[in-house]
Amino acid sequence: MSTQLDLADIQGNTVVAYGRYGFPAARFVFFRVTSPEDGRLFVAEIASLVTTSVPCPNAEVTTNIAFTYEGLKRLDVPEDSLHGFPDEFSMGMKARRDIIGDTGPNHYEHWDPVWNDEDKKLQHVHIMISINGKEEQYLESRDRKIQQMAQDHKVTQLVGHRGLQSDYQPSAVLPGGKEHFGYSDGISDTCVRGCGESLTDAIGAGKPTGGDPRKPEGWAPLEAGEFILGHPDESYAYPEAPGPPLFSRNGTYMVYRKLHQNVGSFNSYLEAEGARFPGGKEALAAKFTGRWRNGAPLVSFPTEESANQFIKQLTNAQANARSQGASQQDKDRYAELQLQLVAFDYAGDPQGAKCPFGAHTRRTNPRSALEFGNKGAFGTPGALSNRRRMLRRGLPYGRVADPTRDDGDHGVVILLLNADLSRQFEFVQQQWINYGNDFRLANDQDPLLGNNGANENCRAQGRMVIEGDAATGKPPYFCSRMPTLVETRGGDYFFVPSMTCLRMIGLGIIDPT
Ligand code: HEM
Repeated sequence: MSTQLDLADIQGNTVVAYGRYGFPAARFVFFRVTSPEDGRLFVAEIASLVTTSVPCPNAEVTTNIAFTYEGLKRLDVPEDSLHGFPDEFSMGMKARRDIIGDTGPNHYEHWDPVWNDEDKKLQHVHIMISINGKEEQYLESRDRKIQQMAQDHKVTQLVGHRGLQSDYQPSAVLPGGKEHFGYSDGISDTCVRGCGESLTDAIGAGKPTGGDPRKPEGWAPLEAGEFILGHPDESYAYPEAPGPPLFSRNGTYMVYRKLHQNVGSFNSYLEAEGARFPGGKEALAAKFTGRWRNGAPLVSFPTEESANQFIKQLTNAQANARSQGASQQDKDRYAELQLQLVAFDYAGDPQGAKCPFGAHTRRTNPRSALEFGNKGAFGTPGALSNRRRMLRRGLPYGRVADPTRDDGDHGVVILLLNADLSRQFEFVQQQWINYGNDFRLANDQDPLLGNNGANENCRAQGRMVIEGDAATGKPPYFCSRMPTLVETRGGDYFFVPSMTCLRMIGLGIIDPT
């Protein structure tokens, strides 16, 4: 529907992930503005460093900037524009805690100091700057440059990242592309229309069309308006956005969440329950997530043996394709196998016999599975999930010192981008992660992310049903007393302006009339 997006006006790491250009490390830096004039000068200067969505395979370092509602207010964005922002954005993440499950161990009282001032006032951070880089030295020199700009313009850098001496939140790819529970991560992405995408880019990453999920005709890119303001979305309407149009067009909303992982609880639960589970520990880990820990999707590779064999083939094909003198055939073979990592739908598994309804990936992107075997209204098999998609960015942080313990500082800094925080992120978090009714799972929560109560003394209340298989007579399996495996340690909702808007903010020339 929409034509090519203006990638030079859209900030980077949005419609196209920086992962594609291989930036293994990032720093997140947070600021507070005191005087609007100084703050605007800072923004105007930073704008010259900001990286756009134009492909940047040769860049060594990137810079991006985003604002909370309080930040925009402090920069004197006109009231009429501010009033155009939706409530969830102006309230901020802390005030939305009951909706998104930031209660108990996830409550903001337990967050890193950088998110709270002494009064624990709701929105504390004004500006977030993210720096992604190929090597530590590039991150360091860009960070220093930004710190100097902040000092020059009397903008305060906020500090207080748990367990760290650094005044920034670091994050970096872990060996083998794993996250701290040992799963390969960063495999699935979302394909947005208008980024110069090829036919195969939409396979597994776009929206299902009802065709063969292993072929391009089985998928189509999602409309840009699901993620970028000022463009038509999946309902052929323009997402609601603050005026004037130039202010919001090509901007997006970003959810920043620092999520601590209770690795000790994960390992001990998996060990104990895996000893009882038919198929063993690795099969149970795969049922939690919807992918084997080596990355193979459960719905396409239902046995451990088939998953291991597939990953072996993929690894060999990669080595061949990258070897000197690799033939076109070698490259095609690797590309074809790589696609199998994402080219699947749950439509062929309507009873959850292969991948449980409650598995993390099936919950967070059910593809066409919410139709429970129906073909979908008006020929749109993903109608119930297409409007809940997000662009998932972010990286792990920290190192696990002792895999038998929960303490320490390690987890995932997850960035989720969407055009409608309430319809997309908050819905997924509230209804699909912290609740199970859409999957006929009553109030069961996501096995990885559920807020299941305290871990001590077996008071944890998490449950997961692993569906059986009527065809073979295999009974269902019930996991109970699952501990809380992930806890929120900080975050907020940010507006990521277009380059045009950034300059308008910096120059103070937003005319809302
Ligand atoms: C510590 C926290 C988390 C961990 C350890 C985790 C782990 C994973 C893993 C291992 C995958 C499969 C790899 C892949 O498909 O790329 C995945 C996929 C995914 N996760 Fe998470 N995740 C976390 C938090 C979240 C949160 C907070 C959300 C959303 C609110 C989320 C949404 C998704 C989505 C949308 C996918 C892709 C599903 C698909 O398209 O098939 N995750 N996650």
